[in-house]
Amino acid sequence: MKFFIDSADINEIKEGIELGLVDGVTTNPSLISKVNKDFDTIVTEILEAVDGPVSLEVIGSEHTQMIAEAQNLVKLGGNVVVKVPMTEEGLKAVRVLSKEGIRANVTLIFSPLQALLAAKAGAAFISPFIGRLDDIAYVGMELIEKIQHILSNYDYTSEVIVASIRNPLHVLDAALIGADIVTVPLKVIKQLARHPLTDVGIKKFLQDWEKVPGSKNF
Ligand code: E4P
Repeated sequence: MKFFIDSADINEIKEGIELGLVDGVTTNPSLISKVNKDFDTIVTEILEAVDGPVSLEVIGSEHTQMIAEAQNLVKLGGNVVVKVPMTEEGLKAVRVLSKEGIRANVTLIFSPLQALLAAKAGAAFISPFIGRLDDIAYVGMELIEKIQHILSNYDYTSEVIVASIRNPLHVLDAALIGADIVTVPLKVIKQLARHPLTDVGIKKFLQDWEKVPGSKNF
């Protein structure tokens, strides 16, 4: 399973890279707004640090605006993926962009049929938002199962990015289902590495090591 980091903060991204858990990056306007730097600086820093796909979102609502924005965004780096919202205009844009060889990540997907349409339009990536569905009492992970099932019925090459991940269980379920990619905030990445019994075990080993004759010479 590929791990993307869901962040526009270069310090978080660099920490994720050190952990070996940044196969790509996803951003969105809300994540960009949390970083107190201008857009060009944010993107330049990310693209210098990351080799894998970096999703940058378009702002326009008409397909012609989205296409023009996308064409500018991809000039910033060969690994830029253009994030396009799941609307009719977005689908029109993705269709044109995929023919031009520009990779699109269709975002804000909340139903299996939206995912099917995005795949059919030629999206390189499809981003269903799990946490936001859980927030309104729908089981987000069921959406991933349905999308994986539908895509496996056909020859679509779109990769599913499990997005809006809020906790380690989301990552576990995505891995059990066999999702292609998870995009995870750094806070959750760190939670994945921790276990209280690991901490207890390390403490006990160090205490016992103290009892070994000559251990203080190490
Ligand atoms: C994914 O591409 C989105 O940036 C992100 O996962 C949204 O997560 P949120 O619902 O926690 O804002």
